Amino acid sequence: MDNKTLALKAVEAKSRSLPTYSNFHVGAALLTQEGKIYLAGNIESSSYSLAMCAERTALFKAISEGERKFKAIAIASDDKNYCPPCGSCRQVINDLCGDIDVIMINGKDELKVLKLSELLPLPFGDDNLK
Ligand code: THU
Repeated sequence: MDNKTLALKAVEAKSRSLPTYSNFHVGAALLTQEGKIYLAGNIESSSYSLAMCAERTALFKAISEGERKFKAIAIASDDKNYCPPCGSCRQVINDLCGDIDVIMINGKDELKVLKLSELLPLPFGDDNLK
């Protein structure tokens, strides 16, 4: 699967978001190593801090379906700029996926592709717990 196809899946996934309070729609498309795609949007709560980002929603969906190996995650929002994953999502992506490709798509359908390690250098992880 090429990066653009996965990014357009993230655009499609925005329709699954439920950003009741911020009205900031985010979509994520998570690609497994076997080629399966999990889509999710961000979900918010009246207790604002309980909102869950699209990226972690996609990851938790996939993990709870038994998936363990991932290749890439794509992220889209309605903003004209790229929507990079928040700090919490960077940590969780690193923990559950390792150094995968993070594909961002902006409002002009341009892509920016970074390794997770570029977004989260010197991560805290399993090795620190040994
Ligand atoms: N959000 C995401 O879903 N992913 C990101 O990468 C950044 C932020 C969500 C969380 C919240 O529902 C809304 O965007 C505004 O912060």
